[in-house]
Amino acid sequence: MSAKNTKSKTIASKGKKKASSGSKKFVPFATKDLLTMKAIGLKDIEALFALADQIRKSPKKFMHSLEGKTIGLLFQKPSTRTRVSFEVAMAQAGGQAVYLGDKDILMGQREPIKDVARTLSGYFDGVVIRTFDHAVLEEFGQVSTIPVINGLSDSEHPCQILSDLYTIYAKYGKLKDIMVTYIGDSNNVLKSLMYGAAITGMSLSIVTPRGYEPSEEDLKEIKVLAKDSGAKLSLSNNPFASLKNTHVIYTDVWVSMGQERQREQRVRDFQPFQVNQTIVSKALPDALVMHCLPAHRGEEITNEVIEGPHSIVFEQAANRLLVQKALLTLLLNKNN
Ligand code: CP
Ligand code: NVA
Repeated sequence: MSAKNTKSKTIASKGKKKASSGSKKFVPFATKDLLTMKAIGLKDIEALFALADQIRKSPKKFMHSLEGKTIGLLFQKPSTRTRVSFEVAMAQAGGQAVYLGDKDILMGQREPIKDVARTLSGYFDGVVIRTFDHAVLEEFGQVSTIPVINGLSDSEHPCQILSDLYTIYAKYGKLKDIMVTYIGDSNNVLKSLMYGAAITGMSLSIVTPRGYEPSEEDLKEIKVLAKDSGAKLSLSNNPFASLKNTHVIYTDVWVSMGQERQREQRVRDFQPFQVNQTIVSKALPDALVMHCLPAHRGEEITNEVIEGPHSIVFEQAANRLLVQKALLTLLLNKNN
């Protein structure tokens, strides 16, 4: 693989801005909450990457960066990576996390969401919410006085994509001019990835079966962002369309949490879109294969590919902890 661990770099669009690595001060996010990739600016992403670089290089310096802070994890869907990386990030940085599963809070059933948000604002320094309907996050964010982080909704998975962009950046030293081909469903992961690419200037080829394309509304919005960043974005129903110049092949499950009733139809429709050895062999020789996990081997990706030399899926998963720690440090330390 020619991908290297980087020294320094700009992610950026026009190659001029430099992330402020080395800075002792945190550059807090411009927004209170992290609900959608749309709301994140390039500066926020650069600050996040710079801090993740610092934490990677000197983890001991960040053992107290979240001391005295407590976050709530309000999860209405199962989770391995997101839950555990947030919990461990808090523990390693001197803070605490309290996990509250669906049956504990019964969000919106036991009492109105706004009452939960106001109550928890009095206890926690931030919350991570994993839910179905994105509106739950928005309603929570509107009334809470603490940062609300989207730990995955039916609409978006921004923490995943911030971490994945960091993984790509750490491999290639930049995002600009890196070509990612996403093959699969227009789901929460793709939506955050589309916005992430459009903001950072990374090129993205989106390949879906006919009828599973991203919404017109999102395509319109990312085109506007891409004009600014220089990101090249394309859409196709042909898995081979842009593989020739592809640095990274990315895929995700065909049936997301909550779509189980559509399984049979989806497995039929997505069959020609499996990331297998033939697909990988058409990309650049050193191409990397990414998957947010959990993976369904034999469906969207073969066992051979996920276990093969191009796959970085477990390094990708490991980076969730690093980026989560950086993210929490930026979002929770605003008043310090
Ligand atoms: N990728 C990801 O979010 O994994 P979990 O669903 O296990 O949290
Ligand atoms: N698209 C998947 C992502 C899981 C991390 C889902 O929503 O189930």
